[in-house]
Amino acid sequence: MKYDFDQMPDRSGTASLKWDRNFRMGPVRYKGKVNSMWVADMDFPCAQPIVSAIEKRAAHPVYGYSFYDKKKVPGAICKWLRDRYNWELAYNDVFYAPGVVTSIGVLIREFTEIGDGIIIQTPVYYPFKKAIEAAGRRVIENPLLNIEGIYKMDFDDLVKKASDPDTKMMILCSPHNPVGRVWSSEELSKLSGICRNNGVLLLTDEIHMDLTRSHITFVPAATAGDRMNTITLTAPSKTFNIPGLSISATIIENPEFKERWQNMAYKSMGLGLSNPFGAEAFIAAYEQGSEWLSQVSKYIDENFIRLKGSLNEEIPEIGFRVPEGTYLAWLDLNKAGISDDIEFAEKLERMEGLLVDPGSIFGDEGRGFIRLNAACSTKRVLDAVHSIKHVLSEY
Ligand SMILES: Cc1ncc(COP(=O)(O)O)c(C=O)c1O
Repeated sequence: MKYDFDQMPDRSGTASLKWDRNFRMGPVRYKGKVNSMWVADMDFPCAQPIVSAIEKRAAHPVYGYSFYDKKKVPGAICKWLRDRYNWELAYNDVFYAPGVVTSIGVLIREFTEIGDGIIIQTPVYYPFKKAIEAAGRRVIENPLLNIEGIYKMDFDDLVKKASDPDTKMMILCSPHNPVGRVWSSEELSKLSGICRNNGVLLLTDEIHMDLTRSHITFVPAATAGDRMNTITLTAPSKTFNIPGLSISATIIENPEFKERWQNMAYKSMGLGLSNPFGAEAFIAAYEQGSEWLSQVSKYIDENFIRLKGSLNEEIPEIGFRVPEGTYLAWLDLNKAGISDDIEFAEKLERMEGLLVDPGSIFGDEGRGFIRLNAACSTKRVLDAVHSIKHVLSEY
């Protein structure tokens, strides 16, 4: 089936975080047509096999307690990971969780103590910091190095921070949101070695794993490093645009860690039951979603090429590189004279109705940046460039 991603349904009125509860500025609302490009979900309808699977389940009028079928659900993702990433897993390495952020909260509590240090690589997906602080642990920043727009890991700093005996965990973002890097096998293997040698457990958030540009190869951290010291969090939610269905996978190969996860997540916190729609969608996505994914990936690749072209032409002072992974554009406005990204995002909203994430919410290194979600029609991506140009002209 051929999908037409230029056409997007109107999402308003669906309790959409992006479209119905989207205004940073509170009561002052933009009166015209809004262009919402903040939260990381796509505005495209998802793959038809997923819609059909949900419709079929919804047709049965009893939505009682549902279990996570321990063969069908892990079976679907195990095949996906084997075929795409050469990652051989047993079904019992894959555990149900309602979401990646939930799993991070569970794992922090199970594998570290109050006051322990947890490393993150800023600028990074801001719920990492919130989850660490809310659990009473300490955020240890290992900032990424921005070398003329190309982000690299600072391994010397990482060794220093990992070797502190109070540092017990690292949360890696791979591919990295917001900077868009897809880490190489060499980078991952080095990082994994540093964690293992220092007794630091590696959690790797790979929720964006399937959304890479066509020439880029994603490598799961567990396959590049020490599987026994790695816990991987992933989901069909970004890949297939079903984040509202609350289903993700926590992948654990270390037998002792499996036991601890089950005790904490299922016995202690009661997180063991999926909802009936999430499980159906999960299976349909991994078993029948690849055609949709290849079409949507091409469309997003093209959006980035058009975005790059338009920025070069209209606002060449903005720093932008097509990200290796994710559908998120990371725009550097510093050379355009913008250092207060919060104020700039507010102006975009008030003057143009363009909603973006200001970069500094991802960490201090994001100052003067904005993050734009390009998983929408090409037209809206190009409209955003005009909005940014207009607001810049008012400075
Ligand atoms: C890196 C990353 N991890 C996790 C999530 C959210 O995952 P979940 O909805 O499964 O908690 C997002 C959503 O934007 C993300 O970008």
